Amino acid sequence: MRKIGILTGGADCPGLNSVIRAVVRKAMQEGFVVTGIKNGWNGLIDNDMKILDLRMTSGILDRGGTVLGTSRLRPPLYPEKEAKVVENFRRSGMDAIIAVGGENTLQIALDLYKKHSIPMIGVPKSIDNALCGTDYAFGFDTAVNIATECIDRLHTTAESHHRIIVIEVMGRYTGWIALQAGIAGGADIILVPEIPVDIDEICTLVRARHRRGKNFSLIVVSEGAKIKGQVEVDKEKRDNHAPHIGEIIGKIVEDETGYETRVSVLGHIQRGGTPSAYDRLIGTQFGVKAVELVKANDFGKMVSFHDGKIHSVNIAEAVSKHKAIDKDLFEIAQLFAD
Ligand code: F6P
Repeated sequence: MRKIGILTGGADCPGLNSVIRAVVRKAMQEGFVVTGIKNGWNGLIDNDMKILDLRMTSGILDRGGTVLGTSRLRPPLYPEKEAKVVENFRRSGMDAIIAVGGENTLQIALDLYKKHSIPMIGVPKSIDNALCGTDYAFGFDTAVNIATECIDRLHTTAESHHRIIVIEVMGRYTGWIALQAGIAGGADIILVPEIPVDIDEICTLVRARHRRGKNFSLIVVSEGAKIKGQVEVDKEKRDNHAPHIGEIIGKIVEDETGYETRVSVLGHIQRGGTPSAYDRLIGTQFGVKAVELVKANDFGKMVSFHDGKIHSVNIAEAVSKHKAIDKDLFEIAQLFAD
């Protein structure tokens, strides 16, 4: 009988539980045993694992977060931790690991696969939607819906007070959430990391709106947005308590235009709570496909979504670079930037 381990690593994300539930259901149909590894790679270091069954994974489909817990620990950065992961994997009797995560988790899975021949399957999770090799990473749809609802709410207060509201959304190195939620929420200006911001142009746009009688503006800023001419700080190296880019832009816009401005940083709200129907659906399909790949001994692969169908690609392709925003969609957003 084959034994599969499953772990969720990196940032939590809506839809993780649908993958866990589907992996257990499909594995049981195939006659496999599933071991849940707790708190990402930590579970393999601390030997914190438990067998998952249908009872334990029932009633979790609509729950946010991950019932397995997660962590951002990266064992390859610490040789003794990496050695422990390998040792405990071998001792556990597991035949393969399904690693559900974003770029860091998948990079670790790839390293362990290549260096120690641990059979790995990756499942792409990311509210940022920035993984290559897949059109979609689950969690993104929920994040976009939450951000859109927040923009709608901020719209009415901006309009009532005749203010500018800068809304900062997550997304790390890419502007997917800003772009899609910005368009869906009717933002007046959308700023993304892929296209550095000319702050004078933004102020000119806001002034022009006021002259036309639009005495409020909504500016959606991706957390990784960069101001032209300013030194950028890598998100990974940035102090968590450093001022947010949304706050910096809000202050400049208020100082330059003289219009009252407020800033709202949406933060982890975008990652919490109930997954959307779409994320539950894709998560379920991804979970089933991951078990099929284990069954086929097709390791070093990541489940992927392309042209409306579930496929697989090499994990190496997924982590090779960040998937930048769709330029055509950005053009459409520009149509409304006035
Ligand atoms: O990758 C998901 C994400 O939510 C990013 O959008 C964000 O930059 C980061 O994780 C926040 O990480 P943490 O939860 O560690 O603050």
